[in-house]
Amino acid sequence: MKRREFVKQSSVAATGLALSPALLHHRSSVEKTVKIGFIGTGLRGRNHINNILDLPHVECPAICDIAPAAIAASQELFQKKNRPLPKVYDQGDYAYREMLEKEALDGVIIATPWRWHTRMCIDSMEAGVYVGTEVSGAFSIEECWELVETHERSGTHLMFLENVCYRRDVMAVLNMVRDGIFGELLHCRGGYLHDLRQIKFNDGEGGLAYGSGAWGEAVWRTEHSLRRNGELYPTHGLGPVATMLDINRGNRLTSISSFATKSASLQHFIKNHPDGGPDHPYGKQNWQLGDVVTSTINTAQGQTIILTHDTNTPRPYSLGFRVQGVQGLIDFDYGTRRIYVEGKSDPHRWEEAKTWLDQYDHPLWRRFEQEAVGAGHGGMDFFLDRAFVESVRAGIAPVLDVYDAAVLRVITPLSEASIRQGGQVQDIPDFTRGKWLQRQPIFGLGEL
Ligand SMILES: NC(=O)c1ccc[n+]([C@@H]2O[C@H](COP(=O)([O-])OP(=O)(O)OC[C@H]3O[C@@H](n4cnc5c(N)ncnc54)[C@H](O)[C@@H]3O)[C@@H](O)[C@H]2O)c1
Repeated sequence: MKRREFVKQSSVAATGLALSPALLHHRSSVEKTVKIGFIGTGLRGRNHINNILDLPHVECPAICDIAPAAIAASQELFQKKNRPLPKVYDQGDYAYREMLEKEALDGVIIATPWRWHTRMCIDSMEAGVYVGTEVSGAFSIEECWELVETHERSGTHLMFLENVCYRRDVMAVLNMVRDGIFGELLHCRGGYLHDLRQIKFNDGEGGLAYGSGAWGEAVWRTEHSLRRNGELYPTHGLGPVATMLDINRGNRLTSISSFATKSASLQHFIKNHPDGGPDHPYGKQNWQLGDVVTSTINTAQGQTIILTHDTNTPRPYSLGFRVQGVQGLIDFDYGTRRIYVEGKSDPHRWEEAKTWLDQYDHPLWRRFEQEAVGAGHGGMDFFLDRAFVESVRAGIAPVLDVYDAAVLRVITPLSEASIRQGGQVQDIPDFTRGKWLQRQPIFGLGEL
């Protein structure tokens, strides 16, 4: 998009008058109330319930989970907000199918363990229920195609709930990219660098446990570190830079090569844990996940992206973003915000990025700052859940769609294959089957 066009669009968006097709469609259904159900009401599912119960024009008639504690905690949320208690579906792993069949839902949010995502997305789309699915990496290329093909066959939409795309600094940098501050883009970095050791081993009281009988994500997430070596959680790092690089909309990801360090940090953690020690059986297991997994991804427009996965080591949280073009670059994260723009910054010196980020604060953030307070993850979850509900109400395609879900999730099996083959380059499928050449950027350009 030309700079002038973007500035025009983003400034009208700020006054609420953007004339995108999505908005026109959206306005036409302004009074419609929609019914949203939830599959998986663990920690993340309850974040969504909490946000969505606060939005106008929504009813939440049903929830589904197999853990009584998750159901009870969700019911408490409904009570706290004085909302009618939802009908509960909790009888077995496929109880969600009964909910889809009986509840006449308009939309459903899926926030279950990764292995369930594709099955539940496909069943929901087949049932004609607009899907919002939590993030994960896929297990095979085929399942990503299945998502796309189910959407195309059923006509049901799927929104990929990659919340970091809505982070305030991410949206400001997106604004800067579109205003040409960095010039033609060359290179981006991102990742998921999050010390999850106490999440991977947790019996609910800080003790060392994983698998059935453990607590929270330790029940299901840890097993992936035991059995898989790859970029297991690609989307928080890659989703935001994908919007900046117009992936699936004028550009696409073409190939990936991945390498992993050895796996030593979980063993070290277990050995030094008060409930562990040198002879603890967990320390003797053959943990497959390399402590730092690094992938290089190429795009059709000649850019590279370095993606990092690091969830076993002691370290402060970071998504490690860098966006670089022919005119300068920015490194930004919760801890680091530095920028260099040729002709504006002192030559060869980093500049603190705050002034730039404030100046380019996204119109959506300016408009909804107050509503976003307390929505989770610094407010970005408000924008995500609002975009989902409003897309369901208007019956329009989401701004992060099934093609985005497919290409972001396929990174995981491709990185696993690459590591197995000593870093061999893997082709990334074009899930749009050539439509990326015509599809126009939409994320951050309209009301959602
Ligand atoms: N975007 C974010 O910021 C963010 C944050 C946390 C988690 N997540 C993602 O959200 C998803 C859920 O994570 P979580 O932290 O809530 O995990 P969790 O373990 O707290 O919750 C998962 C829930 O799914 C339920 N479940 C399992 N199988 C089920 C089935 N067949 N039918 C119905 N319910 C079933 C479990 O009982 C559990 O309550 C994961 O994909 C995770 O990666 C995203």
